[in-house]
Amino acid sequence: MIKFPKDFLWGAATSSHQVEGDNLNNDWWEWERQGKSKEPSGKACRHYSMYEGDFDLAKKLGHNAHRFSIEWSRIEPREGSFDANELEHYRKVIRALKARGLEPLVTLHHFTSPQWFAARGGWENRGLVKYYLRYVEYIVGNLASDVRFWITINEPNIYAYLSYVTGVWPPQKKEPLAACRVMGNFAQAHINAYRAIKGIYKKNGLAEPMISIAQNMQALEACSPGIRNKLAVYLRDRIFNFAFIDKVVRKKALDFIGLNYYNRGLVEVRGWGVRNLFFDLCESNHKPLPRNSLGWDIYPEGLYLLLRKLKRYGLPVFILENGICTEDDALRWDFIRAHLDSVYRAIKDGVKVMGYIYWSLMDNYEWDKGFAPRFGLIGIDYVTYERKVRPSAEKFAGACRTGSLDE
Ligand code: FCB
Repeated sequence: MIKFPKDFLWGAATSSHQVEGDNLNNDWWEWERQGKSKEPSGKACRHYSMYEGDFDLAKKLGHNAHRFSIEWSRIEPREGSFDANELEHYRKVIRALKARGLEPLVTLHHFTSPQWFAARGGWENRGLVKYYLRYVEYIVGNLASDVRFWITINEPNIYAYLSYVTGVWPPQKKEPLAACRVMGNFAQAHINAYRAIKGIYKKNGLAEPMISIAQNMQALEACSPGIRNKLAVYLRDRIFNFAFIDKVVRKKALDFIGLNYYNRGLVEVRGWGVRNLFFDLCESNHKPLPRNSLGWDIYPEGLYLLLRKLKRYGLPVFILENGICTEDDALRWDFIRAHLDSVYRAIKDGVKVMGYIYWSLMDNYEWDKGFAPRFGLIGIDYVTYERKVRPSAEKFAGACRTGSLDE
């Protein structure tokens, strides 16, 4: 029998734009409206009105934590005008979680920004970081007493890469230098938010909160031996996986490491150019692994290897996302089980892991890929909005309820 620590947190995650529906005032909505996405998010999962039933299911499935995000564009649809009704909505969401014994893990920014913010240059513009801070202070100033875990920003690296390097996501730029500026601004935003949040708890005599980001990491592997591939793996690991964490740790602005882990990146460099070193991937399917329905390599060992590397920070790690999209639900539990085995091995090696959050509680709007990828423990019928708990969810529930796995 494999036993996880007593206080281990178990649950699943969502993000506002992917599940709520009708997020009319953010940059993604506008982009979808212009017909640039595969399909619009529309009503998404109608989670904005159905959250109580969804949390009932999470509770039934044995979860004791839940990660979700607050939609900034609902809170501040126009610059400087804060919507108290929306604040109350999220207060109710948090209380609904707590009433069901689910620890709220609250993300403050998960890829989407208000349209007014994006129109002025968004995350590329250092002068706008102050608006993010003002929003954070508004939220935390009002909700602090109900929340212990804050995630300031979701996956700064993925956002910078897809929005400013490959240009797949809005604002669809292909300017690596802009991506660097975005990363710098995210770091500044996080560090300032961290200090502001700590200050608010202190001023109100509340117990210290736990604050982090959600950092996406890939398990990078060289496709074939050779100095060029090795160098590329080293550089990408340093820059893509660890640079942001190093920066904020140096500023003492991280209480734990929030880790989002999905896949392996198989590196095969085809030239000595900077672009080659940073972005070339193996295109020939050498060293094949099973893949999810989006073609991402499934590699549970990679989670173990990354957790081992994170040990050097001496901070607890919280897995804030890990999941598979698949049409074959039987693969989902295999995926979770294999990754939990990796987590357990890392714990045995002395890495302090606080919890495991599966992506996602339910099927949802997978950004530019639309609704096709099925990541959910719970299936969604997008015609009737009916929820269907999948067999994998029941299996995961066994682990959540008992904190253990059969050997
Ligand atoms: C992560 C995102 C999350 C979801 C999963 C599949 O990069 O944080 O919103 O899209 O990937």
